[in-house]
Amino acid sequence: LLKRVNAYLGEHLFQKSKTKECFPDIASSRSSSSSSLGTDEGLFEQPDPLAASASKIVTEKVLRRRSQQLYDQQLSWQGSPEGRKMMQFRKSLPAYNEKNAILTAVSENQVVIISGETGCGKTTQIPQFILESEIDAAHGASCSIICTQPRRISAISVSERVATERGEQLGESVGYKVRLEGIKGRETRLLFCTTGILLRRLLVDRSLKGISHVIVDEIHERGMNEDFLLIVLKDLLSRRPEMRLVLMSATLDAELFSCYFNKAPVLCIPGFTYPVQTRFLENILEMTGYRLTPYNQIDDYGQERAWRVSKQGPKRRKSQIASAVEDALRTADFREYRKETQDSLTCWNPDCIGFNLIEHLLSFICENERPGAILVFMTGWDDINSLKEKLLAHTILGDPTRVLLLTCHGSMASSEQRLIFDVAPDGVRKIVLATNIAETSITINDVVFVIDCGKAKETSYDALNNTPCLLPSWISKVSAQQRRGRAGRVQPGECYHLYPRCVYNAFAEYQLPEILRTPLQSLCLQIKSLKLGSISEFLSRALQSPELLAVQKAIEYLKIIGALDQNEELTVLGQYLTMIPVEPKLGKMLVLGAILNCLDPILTVVSGLSVRDPFLMPIDKKDLAEASKSQFSRDYSDHMALVRAFEGWKYAEKEFAGYDYCWRNFLSVQSMKAIDSLRKEFYSLLRDTGLVDSNANTCNGWSHEEHLIRAVICYGLYPGVCSVVHNDKSFSLKTMEDGQVLLYSNSVNARDSRIPYPWLVFNEKVKVNAVFLRDSTAVSDSTLLLFGGSIMKGDVDGHLKMLGGYLEFFMKPAMAEMYMNLRRELD
Ligand code: CDP
Ligand code: MG
Repeated sequence: LLKRVNAYLGEHLFQKSKTKECFPDIASSRSSSSSSLGTDEGLFEQPDPLAASASKIVTEKVLRRRSQQLYDQQLSWQGSPEGRKMMQFRKSLPAYNEKNAILTAVSENQVVIISGETGCGKTTQIPQFILESEIDAAHGASCSIICTQPRRISAISVSERVATERGEQLGESVGYKVRLEGIKGRETRLLFCTTGILLRRLLVDRSLKGISHVIVDEIHERGMNEDFLLIVLKDLLSRRPEMRLVLMSATLDAELFSCYFNKAPVLCIPGFTYPVQTRFLENILEMTGYRLTPYNQIDDYGQERAWRVSKQGPKRRKSQIASAVEDALRTADFREYRKETQDSLTCWNPDCIGFNLIEHLLSFICENERPGAILVFMTGWDDINSLKEKLLAHTILGDPTRVLLLTCHGSMASSEQRLIFDVAPDGVRKIVLATNIAETSITINDVVFVIDCGKAKETSYDALNNTPCLLPSWISKVSAQQRRGRAGRVQPGECYHLYPRCVYNAFAEYQLPEILRTPLQSLCLQIKSLKLGSISEFLSRALQSPELLAVQKAIEYLKIIGALDQNEELTVLGQYLTMIPVEPKLGKMLVLGAILNCLDPILTVVSGLSVRDPFLMPIDKKDLAEASKSQFSRDYSDHMALVRAFEGWKYAEKEFAGYDYCWRNFLSVQSMKAIDSLRKEFYSLLRDTGLVDSNANTCNGWSHEEHLIRAVICYGLYPGVCSVVHNDKSFSLKTMEDGQVLLYSNSVNARDSRIPYPWLVFNEKVKVNAVFLRDSTAVSDSTLLLFGGSIMKGDVDGHLKMLGGYLEFFMKPAMAEMYMNLRRELD
C-alpha cells in the first residue's frame, strides 16, 4: 500500500510534475458534463501574442469587424419593440443616470469604487456600460471584462439577465463560468464568473493577460475569496497599468476600500426605495395574537443543536445580545413568556428558529394583507426545506391554487432559480424562502413583505481549537437593514423582524469579515499554490489582517497533515489539495481513496461530512433512533454506519422505496439526496486532478475492504485522534490537548461499554461544558501508525515527530518501537 501511495505522492510524481507542470490548466480541466463550454479553454479567447506581425494586422482587422458587428447588432435590437422596452427599463434604473460619470471615472482612474443600494443596477448595468463604451470606441472586440460574483447562482442568473437585456443568447457577447459549468463563445467579451474561478485563473496566468477590466462585485460581504483576490489584484495593478479595476458594494462604507487602493475615487449611486414599515417581535405578537411556546414544547431545531451554541462569535457581541434578550424578557411584552420558560433562554438563542411563529405569520399575511410577494429570510438549505415541508402541510399555505411556494438558496438548480423571478398569477401569493443570498445579490422585484428570522449561517472559528463550524448566528444591523430594504422595491412594504427591538439594538454594526472568523488552512494552501511567498507576510497585506495566532495555527495544521513541508512549501499532497476546493481533511480522504482504489465509500463519507447529519434523532424517539443507527454499524464507526445507510438508501431508491426506507430508519431524505449529488461533484473534482478517470470501476477495486476504508478515514481525520482507555466496565477517552473527552450520545461508539480498539479518530470536537466528539471511527495501532500523519517519503520528518509525541504521551512504548522500525525501513 505504502509503495502505491509513494508512487503517487512521493518523489516519483514530484519529479514528473516538475517537468509537466503539476497543475493542469484549471480553466481547461472540466467534466464531460460541461460540454457547453466548447473547445475554447481559457477564460477568453486570446490573440496569440507570439503571432507574426502580418497575422497581427489580420487579427486587428478581424477584431474591428467583430466590433462593428456587435455594434450593429445592438443598434438593431434597441430599435426593435422589445429592445425599446428593455432600454426603457434600463434607463429607469438609478445606475443609468450615472452612466457618464461612471465611464469617465473608469477611464481616468485605474481603480474605482462604486456603491449603491441593492437593485439600483450595479451588477447588470455597469459591466454593460463598459462593454458598450468599448464597442462604441470601435475596439470593443478586443476588450475582455470579467465580473466576479461571490456565488454560483448569482453569476448564472445575472449573466442570463444581461444577455436578455441585450437581446442575445448566452454565449454571444455575454457568458458565465462557474466551477464545472459555463457558457461562453468566441464573441464573449463580458464574462460573469465566481471569485473562485478568477483565483484559479491566476494560477495559470499571474498577470491576467488579455483581460482589460476586472469588476469585483459585492465587496461589502467581505468574503474570504474577495479579500484574498483584492490583495492579489493590488499587486497586479502596478504590473498592468492599462488594466482597470472596479469594486462594487451595496453599502456605503466604501472608505475602507478607497484607502486600501490609494484613495481611489468613490462613486455613490443615489438610490430609491419606498418606505418600509418595520415590526419587531413585540409588535408581531400583538398584531397577530400569537402566543410564544415555552422552549420545552417548541418544534425548533431540537435540543441537540440548541446546546451547541455556546461557542460562537466574538464573546463581546454574544454577551451583549444575550443581555439584550434578558432585558427583553423583563419587559411587559414578554413577562408572561418569562414566567413560562423560567430561566430557559434557549429559544432566544441564535440557533433556534420559531417555525410555528413563521407559519402563523405567513398565514396571517395571506389572509389579512394586500397582495404582494413574501420573502422569508432563513439560515440555510436545511431549515428552508424543513419549513417548506411544514408549510406544504398547511391548509392555505400548502394549497398551490392560493400560494406559490418557492425556495432560493446557493445550491439550487438553475431551472429552479428562474422561477423566483416570475410573477405569480392573479390571486396566488408568491412566498420565497431564501438564505441571505436574497439580501444583496439577488433582487426579486415583486416583494412587498419581508420576514427576517434575524439569523444567518456564518462560519465561526476558534483559533485555539482550530475547529471551524458553520452555525447560525445573529446577523448585523447592516444585514437587517438590507433585508428590510427588500420590502420596498416596488411599493411601500412591510418588514417583520422575529426578534425584539432591543435585541436588534444589540446587534453588531457590521459582520466580521470572513478572513477574521474562519480557519485559514485552505487560504494558506491557495497562497502557496499561487506562489505568493510567505503566508504570514502575504496575509499582513490584507484589508484587515487575521490574527497571527490563527495564521500560525493554520500553517502548523497543514504541516501536521502533510500538505506543507517544514519550509512551508507545498508537498505533492498539498498540490493535490489545492486542486480540490474542499476542507483539507476531506480532500486528503478523497486523494487517498482514489489512490487506494476504494473511492466509492469514501465519496459517501466525505459527502456525508459536508451535509447536515443524515441520522435524525427526534427527541421523543431518541432511543429508537439510536438503535436504528447502530444497526448500520458492526465495527465501531459512525462513518461506516453512514456508508451502509447510504448504500441501503441507494438500493431502496432503485425500487422507488427510498422515502419509506428513510422513514423506517430515521434518516433524512434530504441529506441522502444531498449526499448523492455531492458524491458526483466530488467525483468530477477528482477527475479534474487526474487521479481518477471516467471509468468509475478502476478506482473501486478495493471498495469492499473495510480496514482499508477505515485507514483512509484515519488518514483524513488525523490529527483528530483520541486514545481509548479501558476501565473495569467501561472506557474513557483522552486527547492530548483536552485531556478527558466525551462522545456525543448519538455516536454508535457511545452505545458500547467496550471498544476493542485502542484509538478513535474523530471529525469534530465541540466544546460545551465538556469537550464532545462527533462522528468517530475506531482504528488499530497499525492503522494509526501507517496512516496517521504522513509516513510517506518526501514529507516524513516533522509529522513523524508529532506522531511519536502521541505515542510517548499515551505511553505505548511497544508501538513506538514498531513505529521507529517502520520508519527506518521506509527511509
Ligand atoms: O446589482 P444591483 O443590486 O445594484 O442591481 P442589479 O442586480 O443590477 O439589478 C437591477 C435591476 O434589474 C433589479 O432591480 C431588477 O429589477 C432587475 N433584474 C431583473 O429583473 N432580473 C434579474 N435576474 C436581475 C435583475
Ligand atoms: Mg448586484
